[in-house]
Amino acid sequence: MRSPTIELTSEQIAFFHREGYLSIPALTTAEEVAQMCDIYDHLFQVKAGRDQGDHLDLTTTDEDDQEPALPQILNPSKYAPELKATLLRANAEAVARQLLGPEIIYRGDHAIRKPPRSGAATPWHQDEAYNHPAMAYDEISIWIPLQPATLENGCMWFVPRSHTGDILPHHPIGNNPRIIGLEVDDPESRTADAVACPLPPGGATVHHCKTLHYTGPNLSSEPRRAYILMFGLPPKPLEAARNFYWLEQQRTKWQQRVQAARQAQHQPQHQR
Ligand code: NI
Repeated sequence: MRSPTIELTSEQIAFFHREGYLSIPALTTAEEVAQMCDIYDHLFQVKAGRDQGDHLDLTTTDEDDQEPALPQILNPSKYAPELKATLLRANAEAVARQLLGPEIIYRGDHAIRKPPRSGAATPWHQDEAYNHPAMAYDEISIWIPLQPATLENGCMWFVPRSHTGDILPHHPIGNNPRIIGLEVDDPESRTADAVACPLPPGGATVHHCKTLHYTGPNLSSEPRRAYILMFGLPPKPLEAARNFYWLEQQRTKWQQRVQAARQAQHQPQHQR
């Protein structure tokens, strides 16, 4: 593990807790971003993790013979372990510790590649809407673009202070239960004061799992690569489970692949 080189100011820490997000100009070096780009593009080229249920398309029905609109790889460092040894990883963990405290655990990594000119928007959502309804979460996602993130290519947008309430009702994109991606109900009424966060390559935004966020379509001529690291305090059981009915309605190809991969490994099945 590399030694971290970043220390947040008390103003940055206070901003994150008050607003539910934070923008950091540099989390790693240009040199490391270039190395990561090569690793990243290769993983998408070979659809790493497809059979393991770790490759999916968020905004379509994700058929095997379909060109993905918004391809994602869950746990990319499982397929490219060199991602674990980056300065980026060390600095992201340092940021998580400074924001949430020393008990943080690593919750995984994630890669989202928006193809040039055809990338779909990732609609407004709260990450916790995908989580288990019977658990309480205090988690963050650290989102790092591997090229500039701009209004044109799909930078992050946040609704300030949206992390202070509970999880809002969500539905699968287009109300299609075969689509994995979720969208908050009635986004127009909830996002009037949203803030865009353009970033240089290797910069980062941090958001809480309850913060409403969105990225636009990629209208540029280059792919928009985002690498995401997630950290959190250990989830705690709630006294009463919440009703995340939108998860119960979903029937996706991805769920089928995850199930098949688990059966192949003789692992007991559990709900995501
Ligand atoms: Ni999200």
